[in-house]
Amino acid sequence: MKQASGEKCINLKLKVWRQKAEESNGRLESFKAENISKDMSFLEMLDVVNEEIILSGKDPIALDHDCREGICGSCGAMVNGRAHGPEKGTTLCQLHMRHFSNGDTVVIEPWRSRAFKVVKDLVVDRSAFDKIIQAGGYISVNTGGAPDGNAIPVPQEVAEKAMDAAECIGCGACAAACPNASAMLFTGAKISQFALLPQGHPEAKKRALAMVGEMDKQGFGNCTNEKECEAECPKGISIINIARMNREFLKSSILS
Ligand code: FES
Repeated sequence: MKQASGEKCINLKLKVWRQKAEESNGRLESFKAENISKDMSFLEMLDVVNEEIILSGKDPIALDHDCREGICGSCGAMVNGRAHGPEKGTTLCQLHMRHFSNGDTVVIEPWRSRAFKVVKDLVVDRSAFDKIIQAGGYISVNTGGAPDGNAIPVPQEVAEKAMDAAECIGCGACAAACPNASAMLFTGAKISQFALLPQGHPEAKKRALAMVGEMDKQGFGNCTNEKECEAECPKGISIINIARMNREFLKSSILS
């Protein structure tokens, strides 16, 4: 391994999960990440490694990303066994290399969950989340023209709780971190953002039943209060949303 040039750069040993396709066997492959600036993000570090892999005529590491600003929820991987890496409240694209030390070995794996099939290397199919949203994560009121913001008064405390739930970016870290591969934090957040606001009330009777039913159908496990989801969520979504989902589920079971 080359010496890191100055204190601003580090050298790392990477062990990256390589898997050609869903049905292929996977394995960890070793790479060197050399002269990595501590100011780089984790994805930029992988870009540098990929450039070298491409120059050597090999297949680069496949990874999902889009905004690289912690907004879209596209990125994500297990880094040394932690969803999105060691920093709390941080997506992989916002994780900086200053949180690693020269000479570290970094093991990078895709999300592990029965419902998230590996597409290639670090890319997993998260369409199971889309199916949960399709089952009820919407409102059917006719939006029409731009409504008057004060037409439906919403108490500030309620609006803030709904916005806190709506912060979920659907990255899948909750299910990947949970020992039961449960998607209850995601589903709870999506149910909560509608359950709290008046605009979400017309469908409330059937929403929780439909979304929880789809969550089970997709193969996610049950919640046993491990709280790993809350600890690893890059957006700090609270498990209070799971409790609210359970109440909404009970309500819709009785009323429907
Ligand atoms: S790439 Fe969009 S959240 Fe990371």
